[in-house]
Amino acid sequence: MNHWYSPGLPEYLDRKQDLETTANQANTHVLMCQPTVMPSAFAPGKCILFGEHAVVFGHPAVAVAIDQGVKVSVEESDKWKLEGSSFEPSRHPHISHIIENIFQYSGPPLDIVVNSSLFSAAGMGSSAALSNAFGAAMYAYLNPGEKLDTVRLAKMAHSAEANAQKGRASPTDTATSALGGCVVVSGTAVPGTRHVFDTSLETPEGSREWAINVVDIPPEIGDAWLVIGYSGTGSPTGRMVSKVAKLISEVPDKMEEMETIANITRAGLVALSAGNLEGLGMAMDACHDSLRKLEVSNKKLDRMVSAARSHSLGAKLTGAGGGGCIVALTHEPTRVSEAIEVAGGMSLLTRLGAEGARFL
Ligand code: PMV
Repeated sequence: MNHWYSPGLPEYLDRKQDLETTANQANTHVLMCQPTVMPSAFAPGKCILFGEHAVVFGHPAVAVAIDQGVKVSVEESDKWKLEGSSFEPSRHPHISHIIENIFQYSGPPLDIVVNSSLFSAAGMGSSAALSNAFGAAMYAYLNPGEKLDTVRLAKMAHSAEANAQKGRASPTDTATSALGGCVVVSGTAVPGTRHVFDTSLETPEGSREWAINVVDIPPEIGDAWLVIGYSGTGSPTGRMVSKVAKLISEVPDKMEEMETIANITRAGLVALSAGNLEGLGMAMDACHDSLRKLEVSNKKLDRMVSAARSHSLGAKLTGAGGGGCIVALTHEPTRVSEAIEVAGGMSLLTRLGAEGARFL
């Protein structure tokens, strides 16, 4: 039995049972009749506005879904294929976990087509978006005409991430991609947010629990853009988390920075909920300064942040750091995009809080 289905997840077990039953029924069904439309789904990537690294120590993190993401379609085929080549399950742990452990699929081989508009391994949640989009496409294939349950999808994708990452995965990326909008992940209740679901995971270090909350984005925020600047190198999340842990063990005073980030996160959330773009930008600037003190920024990220700030309300690195991306909040997206590219980065433009995973 897969560790993810171990005790501590009774609600999901019930849901999984439902899902497997419908999957098995549908397997019989699809063997008899060919679907006429290729089931396909889209799931967005994400960008962390506040709380990266502090979330590892139990503080809240705030992420928004972005316009870019991953589209997946599945079609019956004479043999298993991914992107036109032979599908090798061991090379694609998220996809194979969803096929084998979630759906326990035993129907005809599938041709899986993936299109991504995200930079991969860059802190944009590409593997979470892939898991959500593939999970949703499989669900559509096996349950034609049924609605998508995004909470169930978020839990399914989280289990795929955990399975692929040796049992360690925060639900931030998968929940934000599934639900869309603005998601606050925390160990405890966060004032001013709406609770959606709780989730837990058995990790090698013990049981972990999270509350997944959402914040409604007021219309004033819709006037602004996020410009994401990719440094060109990947963001090694595990290595950066270990680096911060080592820094804190060597310099215990650095732990204060986690409290500072938590305060900035709370102030940023208040500004976001009130539609106060200036306040939101100031909190982003402050968050970057704290992340620098935790030594997770680098020269390229700092250069892109400085370049973006001249036309932004605020700018910071986003995600684990050490590479990956920055994010800037602005009314002048073209200017910021140019500034980031002059500083040597690649840019993407998005509104804040895109719609979550959906069938196409
Ligand atoms: O770069 P990402 O999207 O993997 O973000 C990592 C965020 C951390 O707080 C550094 C780690 C985590 O698991 O939350």
